[in-house]
Amino acid sequence: MPQGPIPVRRLLFLVGFMGSGKSTVGRLLAGRLGWTFEDVDDEIERLQGRTINQIFAEQGEAHFRALERERLEDIAARAADAPAVVALGGGTVAQPANLDLLRAAGGVTVWLECPLEELRRRCRGMNNRPLFRDPASFEQLYRRRLPYYQQADFRVDADRRDPNDVVEEILRCNVF
Ligand code: S3P
Repeated sequence: MPQGPIPVRRLLFLVGFMGSGKSTVGRLLAGRLGWTFEDVDDEIERLQGRTINQIFAEQGEAHFRALERERLEDIAARAADAPAVVALGGGTVAQPANLDLLRAAGGVTVWLECPLEELRRRCRGMNNRPLFRDPASFEQLYRRRLPYYQQADFRVDADRRDPNDVVEEILRCNVF
């Protein structure tokens, strides 16, 4: 049987707070690279046949985190699949074991950094984020999350109008 290097799937994970543009930028970036795009939250909703809001309301955040973890394990296990850009949820890397898993899978993490005011502006009026309750708790959560996002391999400024600019900046990082 031919022996060769163990294949490692090329995986680029976008991390960042709610509203930082992970899904929008991820889809565009995957298009530019010719890679597939996976959105962890969309995948959870599709497999569950219900929204993130419903999952939180019916079974709580801990259950959502378990579903999120399952998705990451699935992504990590598919070494033979096409390379992918993966948009994580805003809280994914705030579970330290998740970041370990992404790294063990050979994934590179890119943080879409965006100031609080801009995130607040983008999320205002949205009702599909159970952890976006009021400005004070939004800010508290943002501050609690920062140390986790700062552990990402790369940081790009996502405080831009055009997501295509963010994509260009990521491509300039030469992450692989
Ligand atoms: C969450 C962010 C959401 C989603 C869930 C929990 C969080 O993803 O995963 O509502 O903990 O910050 P987005 O960052 O895509 O909004």
